[in-house]
Amino acid sequence: MTSPDAASPASKTLLFETTGVSMHYGDYRALHDVSFHVADNEFVSIVGPNGAGKTTLVNVVTGLLKPTTGEVRFMGRDIAGVGPVELARRGMSRAFQLVNIFPALSVRETLAVAVSSRLRRVVNPFRSLWKDGELQADVERVSEAFGLRARLETQASTLSQGEKKLLDIASAFALNPTVILLDEPTSGVSTADKHSIMEVMVSAAKGAGVRAIVQVEHDMDLVARYSHRIVALQEGKVLADLPPDVFFSDPAMISAVVGTRPPSVKRSH
Ligand SMILES: Nc1ncnc2c1ncn2[C@@H]1O[C@H](COP(=O)(O)OP(=O)(O)O)[C@@H](O)[C@H]1O
Ligand SMILES: [Mg+2]
Repeated sequence: MTSPDAASPASKTLLFETTGVSMHYGDYRALHDVSFHVADNEFVSIVGPNGAGKTTLVNVVTGLLKPTTGEVRFMGRDIAGVGPVELARRGMSRAFQLVNIFPALSVRETLAVAVSSRLRRVVNPFRSLWKDGELQADVERVSEAFGLRARLETQASTLSQGEKKLLDIASAFALNPTVILLDEPTSGVSTADKHSIMEVMVSAAKGAGVRAIVQVEHDMDLVARYSHRIVALQEGKVLADLPPDVFFSDPAMISAVVGTRPPSVKRSH
């Protein structure tokens, strides 16, 4: 990923977009007429209060939920409701807030499962996977990128919370995605760990040729520091879609969306 200043918007390729998406759970309307897009080289943060529809939007754009109305396109193709497995094959990968972490598996086994699903290997028995050179090389490459190489034989349940998050994100990266979506990747970890997780993830994304990152994030310091664009949801509608300097210069916007004071906008890349 490069700085957004490096490419003019006109030169950017659209990776995915939703057009007029609404999502109803029974009578309840969780998303209303949401049009949202992500282009090449973008880091987009989705923000908003609890219940605003952020996870629903991620579920819709990752094909887990079929919207009640509207279109979802990825790389120019309609993907509404195709399901996450098919979508991962097409290059969109998602971290699921630790659901990829099986406590009894080692870091090596966890990453091997993710890589083997990409390589379409039969996952069991594990023993045969250990002899699979291509798979093992990939496991080691991904573990290296996420600083987990020394932990390859460690059981996932004994990792620190920050390392579990890294392993979860690393599993999503093991699918060699074009685009990666993260729903609250740093929730439940210390402020210091949040920053190191983001640094590792952004540098791994650059190394792996990931073309865009979309995250749901509550920590406004992280949002300000890493995002090229902020999409704010409120009661299922897009309230704002702005670059961070513009977003954080509007105190009314910030308190409407997150109810906090603006952080100082400091970009690290
Ligand atoms: N499966 C579901 N069935 C019914 N209501 C749901 C379901 N999932 C989410 N909701 C409701 O939809 C709204 C948006 O939820 P969600 O997308 O999880 O918001 P956020 O991630 O922004 O907190 C909330 O009011 C939530 O209670
Ligand atoms: Mg959510």
